[in-house]
Amino acid sequence: MKLTLRIWRQAGPADSGRMVAYEVPDANPDMSFLELLDVLNERLTLEGDDPVTFDHDCREGICGACGVVINGQAHGPRERTTTCQLHMREFSDGDVIDVEPWRSVAFGVVKDLMVDRSGLDRIIRAGGYVSVNTGSAPEAHATPVPKPIADTAFDNATCIGCGACVAACPNGSAMLFTSAKVTHLNSLPQGAPERSERVLNLVEAMDAEGFGGCTNTGECTNACPKGIPLDSIATLNREYLRASLGRK
Ligand code: SF4
Ligand code: FES
Repeated sequence: MKLTLRIWRQAGPADSGRMVAYEVPDANPDMSFLELLDVLNERLTLEGDDPVTFDHDCREGICGACGVVINGQAHGPRERTTTCQLHMREFSDGDVIDVEPWRSVAFGVVKDLMVDRSGLDRIIRAGGYVSVNTGSAPEAHATPVPKPIADTAFDNATCIGCGACVAACPNGSAMLFTSAKVTHLNSLPQGAPERSERVLNLVEAMDAEGFGGCTNTGECTNACPKGIPLDSIATLNREYLRASLGRK
């Protein structure tokens, strides 16, 4: 496959950045999108040029590091797929593909396609955990969890913190991400002791990071590689209202 990549190049946070076109004449349909960037980077390095900076770790769709905007879509054209799990067979010979970093006020560009997603880490730090006493593991059946609640918690726990929801949202909102944490932990009996404190702290941290509000556009759930539903945002709003009333 012969492809043309138009890639956002930005030397650092202070640089204004620009799109630069690169020909990749030897792309294989079975390559992942990141492997395509690897091939391009090998060539740029051999030619003495600066390779394209992009974030990645697991390359298995589980760490959430690799997100870029491909032809205007967060993580590209395939539903429920991270950039590292997207393969070039989704594209056609001769395609021109635009590759850009997440664009959001709360995600500053570090370099090229890499952005600073540490705002999501700080939201988790504000309450995305369950406190436990130290000691041996509790007996597995000591806390029964009904199957529908276990399923809801698990579905929301699959959020990988990639930030595609923020990048896709016209408001740059992190509501889907935050709601996944709240719905995961607040649904479970293990999360009950910190239920109110958790949602209030997470929302406060989310607002402090400069993420926008939710206007029910729904772009977040469309872009989400794990299919976190808008229902989770409704749960977040209910949990927030309940906690706010309880605090007064
Ligand atoms: S909710 Fe989905 S899109 Fe947002 S951070 Fe989690 S996995 Fe990524
Ligand atoms: S590199 Fe880990 S999810 Fe893509």
